[in-house]
Amino acid sequence: MSLKLPPSLMLIFYVVLSLCSIYAVSGYKDVDDPAIRTMEEFSGYPFDETHSNTQSLSVDAENLQKQIDELATFSDTPAPSVTRVLYTEKDVIARRYIKNIMGLAGLSVREDAVGNIFGRWEGYEPDLAPVASGSHIDAIPYSGKYDGVVGVLGAIEAINVLRRSGFKPKRSLEIIMFTSEEPTRFGISCLGSRLMAGSEMLLKALETTVDNQNISFIDAARSAGYAQEENDLRSVFLKKGSYAAFVELHIEQGPLLEEEGISVGIVTAIAAPASIKVDFKGGGGHAGAVLMPHRNDAGLAAAELALAVEKHVFDSGSIDTVGTVGILDLHPRAINSIPSKSHLEIDTRDIDEERRNKVIEKIHESAVSIAKKRGVRLAEFNIINQDPPALSDVSIIEAMKSASKELNLTHKLMISRAYHDSLFMARVSPMGMIFIPCFKGYSHRPEEFSLIEDISNGVKVLALTLAQLSLK
Ligand code: GLV
Ligand code: MN
Ligand code: MN
Repeated sequence: MSLKLPPSLMLIFYVVLSLCSIYAVSGYKDVDDPAIRTMEEFSGYPFDETHSNTQSLSVDAENLQKQIDELATFSDTPAPSVTRVLYTEKDVIARRYIKNIMGLAGLSVREDAVGNIFGRWEGYEPDLAPVASGSHIDAIPYSGKYDGVVGVLGAIEAINVLRRSGFKPKRSLEIIMFTSEEPTRFGISCLGSRLMAGSEMLLKALETTVDNQNISFIDAARSAGYAQEENDLRSVFLKKGSYAAFVELHIEQGPLLEEEGISVGIVTAIAAPASIKVDFKGGGGHAGAVLMPHRNDAGLAAAELALAVEKHVFDSGSIDTVGTVGILDLHPRAINSIPSKSHLEIDTRDIDEERRNKVIEKIHESAVSIAKKRGVRLAEFNIINQDPPALSDVSIIEAMKSASKELNLTHKLMISRAYHDSLFMARVSPMGMIFIPCFKGYSHRPEEFSLIEDISNGVKVLALTLAQLSLK
């Protein structure tokens, strides 16, 4: 082929030509499909008249939706909510489901010591660093079925799309299902990717980390079939350069794409998250007999600190600073007993790391002064993580933009306010993220929803982006 086209257009041209020899996909065909329009643009003639036996960059939307729905049934709470917590029975079944789908996509599957799952499609230059994509399938209590899942099942489908198109990767393509992006069980977010990125702090912490039932991380991992050997968690660390690029597909978890009618969000940066655990200890006592001036109420200290978090966040003066007290436990949790212990977990984030750190300092000052004023003890103020933000790689942003353009999909550059495994993959690989619209921006709630058409668009953009990056 001696046409003088830019490399990315050549790729599309190659994909379009190779479509002439592929098989049809379960009858799914949409003449408004932007990929078909793209085919027409490049081939110069109407797709329907001359290629009636072929498909475009075809996403098997029906099957993908079926997989999303099936995966959602592995849940500890009733539909439409999904609850799937690390190393529980439902998590283990869901992992098996994903490995099976990877196998059906022709990927060779392996797992590491904490259960990050990798499915590889070998490129024709297998010694080059692979290009990877992936996300998570764990789900916080009473959440929805799209968060993370779209980036795992969608990425496997992107591989299917490329295979069907006849594409042959130069660099291997690898799909990763990360272990425990959500902090639900052990209070540690992005556990799998954080460890892959080589966090010594996490490696150390995992030796002693327990869940709220006092089950250790190691025992929980072993019960799910991982961490079998002593000291093998270090083997999860990735070397820098292990991947040439990493791209994650995810629902936006915010309302902008839907509101503005835009198909694809191209993430330029991920905001900096932090989480803090706080314990107050007070005197407790009888709710009737202990008079108000004599109380050291750990519950009220927690309530006051929760309001202080809100105040410090507002005082930052930026709409980008956020803070949430998502966990507040009282002990002994009896209506007629003054709380003798309280436990809070505070999540605070900002796109500006320094500003977020100032908020953390102020929260600490408030915790100390509230304890003093109320005569309770600040038994713990533990910053669990205080992560910097991450920037997407410019060349991956360009690849995602050109993929969107070639598919005739509208796109916009945006910041991710939620964190993702990409935050940690950015430490070991150039990183990029593709967002798709979700209903009213709902996420971390059962009403979370994305149209399969929007998911399919994301899968196509991902497929073309991976293809481009693989040929570099
Ligand atoms: C991810 O689930 C987040 O809380 O941002
Ligand atoms: Mn989430
Ligand atoms: Mn997620």
